[in-house]
Amino acid sequence: MTEIGTMQDLEALAAEIATAIESVSSLEALEAIRIDLLGKKGRVSLMMRELGGMDPEARKQAGQELNRLKDRIATAIELRQTLLGDAALNDRLAAEAVDVTLPSRPHTEARLHPLSRTIEEVVAIFAEMGFTVAEGPDIESDYYNFTALNIPEEHPARQEHDTFYLPPDAEGKRKVLRTHTSPVQVRTMEATEPPVRIIVPGRTYRSDHDATHSPMFHQCEGLVIADGIHMGHLNGCLIDFCRAFFGVDGLPVRFRPSYFPFTEPSAEVDIGCTRDGGGLKIGAGDDWLEILGSGMVNPRVLANCGYDPEKYQGFAFGMGIERIAMLKYGIPDLRTFYDSDLRWMRHYGFLPFDAPSVHAGLVGGSS
Ligand code: DAH
Repeated sequence: MTEIGTMQDLEALAAEIATAIESVSSLEALEAIRIDLLGKKGRVSLMMRELGGMDPEARKQAGQELNRLKDRIATAIELRQTLLGDAALNDRLAAEAVDVTLPSRPHTEARLHPLSRTIEEVVAIFAEMGFTVAEGPDIESDYYNFTALNIPEEHPARQEHDTFYLPPDAEGKRKVLRTHTSPVQVRTMEATEPPVRIIVPGRTYRSDHDATHSPMFHQCEGLVIADGIHMGHLNGCLIDFCRAFFGVDGLPVRFRPSYFPFTEPSAEVDIGCTRDGGGLKIGAGDDWLEILGSGMVNPRVLANCGYDPEKYQGFAFGMGIERIAMLKYGIPDLRTFYDSDLRWMRHYGFLPFDAPSVHAGLVGGSS
């Protein structure tokens, strides 16, 4: 169009445009129409530009007409946009509707490994007694694993540990894979002032492999240090733990004299059981089962860590997680913990929502 047409022409154009807009069926096509008419080089925009060359009277008249046309187009586009938008939304809602009446897909639930579960249980029980969890490295120096714990170079206890040694470093020193969680006692005492009340669940390593030993296994260490701690605290704490963990209210617990270089005196803790009839029953009968090692922290260890043994006393204990898990859950072979056999996991594993609550422990002495 080289010059602005008559009003009839504009009316005809408006009608043609209205039909085009109404018949368009997608938002993209509608946008194309908008650009074709109102865009910078759109038909109506070009007509507007021609106004400049007209005489004032005609320009006024034509300007009004064109502005009206522009408004009508804009309104019609907006209306169509809303309609198409609603339709698109309705289509999506229909297409993506979820049929809640369909049967759900069969799925297998994951299981929590009995070792994870046992660690959670132990932590929950001691947390209720005010213990916090401490951790340390799996690769330890000889000092933390042995020397600071009063196990010097020639000590026979070193042989008993079947230690894995790493190749010597530049200074010829050989690190070890920690043979117990006890080095974390030393690390904690070095880093903090008394009072101390920690438990240390973690991986430990010894070169040993049979139905009750694995080269990698788990222990949980405990350490309590404060002014005035005595053996009565050790007894009470560990009796409460054994009863809560095995869920037997009056479970007999016995403290049997023993020896550990890092405690003096030392005691092994046994719980009452019976083996009558082939199976093991905890909490009944007159037999005993060893559960953990314990003792009053050797003053030499306190001194090695910078604590004044005249001022502070404490007790410590250590237990094998696999061992107590096997006893509690009737798992006969320790090696099966690491076989990754799904059938075993389905049998011995725990559903995640079975996780122990912190309250499962000490209330009433049973879980
Ligand atoms: N560290 C010992 C072990 O691996 C267990 C142990 C016994 C830890 C007595 C202690 C303790 O803290 O007091 O056999």
